[in-house]
Amino acid sequence: MNKVKSRIKAVTVEELGVIGRKIVTLKGIEIGIFFVNGSYYAWRNLCPHAAAPVCEGVVCGTRLPSLVYQYEYGRDQEILRCPWHGWEFGLTDGKHLVEGGVKLRGYEVEVEGNDIYVLM
Ligand code: FES
Repeated sequence: MNKVKSRIKAVTVEELGVIGRKIVTLKGIEIGIFFVNGSYYAWRNLCPHAAAPVCEGVVCGTRLPSLVYQYEYGRDQEILRCPWHGWEFGLTDGKHLVEGGVKLRGYEVEVEGNDIYVLM
């Protein structure tokens, strides 16, 4: 049975900026809204490791798979690093970079005009 979701206005496009994030509280739940590569994503501000406010972490890139003694950096501004123990998650899919089965809790996002809505 599908649960009916509410569509809640979270933030405006202007508030979020061209490259940015905003943490909002909707239905008593903290959610980080992120703008990444032209799309918007919403993740619960709770790290699956030990419940840190993960959305307050650094947005960065990461080291890509490469040969020994080669260090390739990539995915700049697509990675969220948890502020407590440094676990890294993809901002576009919520997946932990190493343990793919570990994910951030995500929400659907809709944009209408200047307003960004979260479905929850
Ligand atoms: S609480 Fe996020 S990495 Fe430990």
